[in-house]
Amino acid sequence: MLGIVEQLEAKRAEARLGGGRDRIEKQHERGKLTARERLDVLLDPGSFEEYDTFKTHRATDFGMASQQYPGDGVVTGWGTINGRPTYVFSQDFTVFGGSLSETHAEKICKVMDLAMQNGVPVIGLNDSGGARIQEGVASLGGYAEVFWRNAQASGVVPQISVIMGPCAGGAVYSPAMTDFTYMVRDTSYMFVTGPDVVKTVTGEVVTAEDLGGATTHTKKSSVADAAFDNDVEALVETRRLFDFLPSSSRDRAPGLGVFDDPNRAEASLDTLVPENANTPYDMREVILKIADEGDFLELQKDFAGNILTGFIRLNGESIGVVANQPLVLAGCLDIDSSRKAARFVRFCDAFNIPVLTLVDVPGFLPGVSQELGGIIKHGAKLLFAYAQATVPKVTVITRKAYGGAYDVMASKHIRADVNYAWPSAQIAVMGAKGAAEIIHRRDAKDPEKLASHTKEYEDRFANPFIAAQRGFIDEVILPQSTRRRVLRAFEMLKTKEVPEPRRKHDNIPL
Ligand code: COA
Repeated sequence: MLGIVEQLEAKRAEARLGGGRDRIEKQHERGKLTARERLDVLLDPGSFEEYDTFKTHRATDFGMASQQYPGDGVVTGWGTINGRPTYVFSQDFTVFGGSLSETHAEKICKVMDLAMQNGVPVIGLNDSGGARIQEGVASLGGYAEVFWRNAQASGVVPQISVIMGPCAGGAVYSPAMTDFTYMVRDTSYMFVTGPDVVKTVTGEVVTAEDLGGATTHTKKSSVADAAFDNDVEALVETRRLFDFLPSSSRDRAPGLGVFDDPNRAEASLDTLVPENANTPYDMREVILKIADEGDFLELQKDFAGNILTGFIRLNGESIGVVANQPLVLAGCLDIDSSRKAARFVRFCDAFNIPVLTLVDVPGFLPGVSQELGGIIKHGAKLLFAYAQATVPKVTVITRKAYGGAYDVMASKHIRADVNYAWPSAQIAVMGAKGAAEIIHRRDAKDPEKLASHTKEYEDRFANPFIAAQRGFIDEVILPQSTRRRVLRAFEMLKTKEVPEPRRKHDNIPL
C-alpha cells in the first residue's frame, strides 16, 4: 500500500510542476505567478479540491503523442472564498503556453456544468496562447463548448474572468460573455487579431499593449471592468468582488456583519450641492458617505466617468449603485455611460442585487457624433434595463433630473419603488434658460425679458415639489438623512415580488 501512496504523491508532484521548472522560472521572471500559485491567493487556504489532475490530451499529430503533461495546461476544481464555494479554472502557461486543447476544454466544461447544477459561481484565470495549434478543429470545438456554456450560465451563476497573460483570437469571447473581466497591467492583453495581423491587413502599426492591454480595455474599449498592477492585487480584488455577489440567481448576496450605524447622519451632505446649478460636485462623495464603512467597489472606473457604477453595502446587504457624476460632462447620459450602466443594472437584476440610483442629470449629451453613433438605441438600453428590472429600486435625485433622462434614471414611472429627492432637486423638461428661450422665442433678443422668463421658469420648476405633489417623488428628504432613508427603504423592499409577463426572453435593443 505504501508504495501505491508514494506513487500517487510522485504523480501529483509531477503534475504540480506543470511544464517544468525552467518554464515556471520564466513565468516568475515575467512577474507572473503560476496557475497553482494564483489559486493559492484566490482561494481560502487549504480549500482547493482539484479535479482531472491527471487528464492528458489525446492528440498524436506533430509529435504530440510523446509530449504529455498531466492536467494538460489547466488546473480545475473548486474551493472557497471567505467560506463560500466557487468553481475555478486556472490556465497554466507553462504547458503548451496554456493553449486550449480538446481535453483542456473538457476540463473547463466539467466545472462549468457542475457550477450550473450546484448554483455556484465560476472564476476563470486566463493565461493562454489560444487554440492548441497542433489540434486544429478539435480545439476550436472545445472553445465553442466553453462559449455555449458561458451563454447557458449567464444569469444563472456569476462568472468572473481574470486575464493574467495572453488572451487572443477566439479565446477572448469566453471572458467577453462572462459578467466581469479583470486584467493585470503590463502582463495581460486581449485582442481578436494581434499586432502582426493588424499590420498585414490594415497597415496600422500598434503595440500589443496599445491594441489590447489593460489600459486600453479599461479606458477605451470597456472590455475590462478593472485593471490591477500585479497578479496578487488582481486576485485579492477578485475575492472582494466575489463577496458582493450571490452564488446564483436563486440566492441573495451574503449579508455581512456591520459596524456602521444604520442611522448615521452625514451633515456634510447638506452643503454638498453648490448654490450655482452649473457648478459640479463629486457624486462619489455621496456614495462613500452613505455606504457602510465608506466602502465602494467601483467598476469601470476609468470608462464613461459621467456615470458611476459599483457595489456598496447598506446594513451589510449588497447594493448596486448607479450614479450620474456631475464632474464629468456635467453628468450627461451619452452612448458609453448608457451602455455601462445598462449592463450593470442587468447584472444586478439577474442576481437579486437591489439598485440604488443617484440622479443629477442635465439630459442626454447633444452632438452629431452621439446621434450618428446611435445614442437612441444605446440610451434605450439603460431605459430598458431599468424598466425591466424587478429587484428593489430606490432613487435619490440630488439636483438635476431633466427631460427624457429624468424618466430613464429609475424614475417612478418605470417602476422604481421608492423615489426621494433632496430639496436642491430640479425636475423639469430642461434647464430654465433653455426652456425660456424656446417658450419665449420672441423675446430672444431682449436679455432683460429673457432673464425674467428664466427666473419665472426656475421658480416654478427648479424644485422637487411639483413632482412631489403628483407623487412622482415619495418624499423630499434632508441630504444628511440619505443613508438612513435609503437603507430603511431597502429593508422594507426585501419581500418585494413582481409577477413577470410570459415570454421566452425580452428583446433588449442591442
Ligand atoms: N498552441 C500550442 N502551443 C502553443 C500555443 C498554441 N496556441 N501558444 C503557445 N504555445 C507554446 C509555444 O510553442 C511554447 O512552447 P515551448 O515552451 O515548448 O517552447 C510555449 O507555448 C510558450 O510560448 P512562447 O511563444 O514561447 O511564449 P511567448 O510569451 O513568447 O508568446 C504568445 C506567447 C501567445 C504570444 C505566442 O505563443 C503565440 O503567438 N502563440 C500563438 C497564438 C495563436 O495564434 N493562437 C491560435 C489562435 S487562437
